[in-house]
Amino acid sequence: MVDNIILIGFATTGKTQVGRLVADRLGWGFLDTDDEIVRKEGKPIPDIFNQEGEAYFRRLERSILVTACQQEKNVIATGGGAVLDPQNRQLILRRGMVICLDAAPTTIYERLLQDTQNATSPNIRPLLAVADPLKRIKELKTQRQPYYAIAHLTVNTDDLPVNSVADEVLKGWRQWSQHGDVSLTPAAEVKTESRNCPIFVGWGCLEQLGSMMRRAGLAHRAMLVSDETVLSRYGERAMASLNAEGFDPCALGVPPGETTKSIENAVKIYDFLVEHRVEREDAIVALGGGVVGDLTGFVAATFLRGLPWVAVPTSLVAMVDASIGGKVAVNHPQGKNLIGAFHQPGMILADVQTLTTLAPRELISGWAEVIKHGIIQDAGLFSFLEENAPQLMALQPEATTEAVARSARVKARVVSEDEKETSGKRMLLNYGHTIGHALEAATGYGYFLHGEAVAIGMIGVAHLSQRLGLVGMDIVERQRQLLQRFGLPLSAPGVNMELVLKAMELDKKTREGAIHWVMLRDIGEVITLHRVPQTEVIAVLEELLKS
Ligand SMILES: NC(=O)c1ccc[n+]([C@@H]2O[C@H](COP(=O)([O-])OP(=O)(O)OC[C@H]3O[C@@H](n4cnc5c(N)ncnc54)[C@H](O)[C@@H]3O)[C@@H](O)[C@H]2O)c1
Ligand SMILES: [Zn+2]
Repeated sequence: MVDNIILIGFATTGKTQVGRLVADRLGWGFLDTDDEIVRKEGKPIPDIFNQEGEAYFRRLERSILVTACQQEKNVIATGGGAVLDPQNRQLILRRGMVICLDAAPTTIYERLLQDTQNATSPNIRPLLAVADPLKRIKELKTQRQPYYAIAHLTVNTDDLPVNSVADEVLKGWRQWSQHGDVSLTPAAEVKTESRNCPIFVGWGCLEQLGSMMRRAGLAHRAMLVSDETVLSRYGERAMASLNAEGFDPCALGVPPGETTKSIENAVKIYDFLVEHRVEREDAIVALGGGVVGDLTGFVAATFLRGLPWVAVPTSLVAMVDASIGGKVAVNHPQGKNLIGAFHQPGMILADVQTLTTLAPRELISGWAEVIKHGIIQDAGLFSFLEENAPQLMALQPEATTEAVARSARVKARVVSEDEKETSGKRMLLNYGHTIGHALEAATGYGYFLHGEAVAIGMIGVAHLSQRLGLVGMDIVERQRQLLQRFGLPLSAPGVNMELVLKAMELDKKTREGAIHWVMLRDIGEVITLHRVPQTEVIAVLEELLKS
């Protein structure tokens, strides 16, 4: 929880005066974004609007808000329109307690008239410069109401003197800071230039989907996309939660399975969105495994040039891997994920309890990626998996939630450092995948589940690392034992060596000539090599593939 109070609300609700008082009483800093803009630009707000345009003003407002929110122990009074920007809403909700000061339209009108006479606030006069100001105020207020509703607390200021409003704000702040709202604490966060995406992980938290989306600043309608298996189990709960928060949702089910990740199904979802007249500020919720997430995310990236979307992963692979990082795609008959984009979700909500209905083989396959996250970056997670393997396989709530949260944190950290796969950091996530992908391709996809192939790939690359003197046999053995305890395959007897090598060759071509081998150094540490002797690779493969 961050120690800031951010005041939102319509003009004349007293944000500036109340904010100053509250800041004084708490001994905090105070900042009014409108005043700050006027100070910086050296002219009143109507002049900025007239001369530079509203877009310019909003950019200034946003940058001031971003800077103010980076600090702590500040009371920040925002302009009446600041909450119109979804990025601003997300920012303030994450950086403190958001309190809305409210007043009836008639009160606002009266206060505006008075202010104009006193000429203290030249920046609000334009509200009066219309034929029927009261009507205009009412319209604007109704329009903005859904955004003001994101506040953690709303204080009505109609009959209260400024001092008493400040009392109410302080009372609310004390309660909030003491008890907080634990459900609001993200387990991890993807922080990129384009967006910050909080990841909430909990046991049985699906009911909170709607309220968490409201708090993430997603204020309009929501469309839900899921596969038929997941929809029949969890659709109702998700829809109820969205309905309860007034998202007015509609649901669409697609068939389960990898073949659903096609452009044809993307078109079906576009049709559904068109039919329901979905607009730029509406959100799409992807409820399901990685297939639903990749497909829905792809649609969200492209429909109306980009809609906000929320991932509600229900498979282990989706919770710790597919939903995190903003890679969205559909398959082309010539290759997996060939048509795609980067489009970060606005929020991820993983209800770990949903794993209890996942097929055991799918679950086991997902553990391979969790183990991989431990190996590449989090030795503590690896030990946790070693110590809790039986509880985790039995899906004991506390341990499983902890493992999912920690694993998600690793992926979130890596993609935050290298969102678009440019610095090489994100490549570390491919540990075990060079051989793993080749095994999947050599067996025509469908023989191994992805995580199974990755587990065998991790065994292979660990041996390769050991042969090259990068790591000791004890570490290789520790990894093998953990994979085995989770019931993952450790070899691929009978798979054709030629086909595996051919698949690796093909992979090399599509990756501009070099295979990037992610090699094992220690539990929690991997490095990338570009040149690995082919003889060593073949020796390792012979071991893996022998019957
Ligand atoms: N975008 C990325 O960064 C990324 C990363 C890894 C994987 N992926 C993609 O993810 C996909 C694989 O994801 P997946 O393993 O989740 O596959 P999936 O989405 O096909 O789900 C697996 C199966 O489990 C079912 N299921 C899901 N949740 C369930 C639940 N709680 N209860 C009962 N059944 C449930 C589904 O209906 C499906 O039949 C692949 O297409 C892969 O390319 C993407
Ligand atoms: Zn993978």
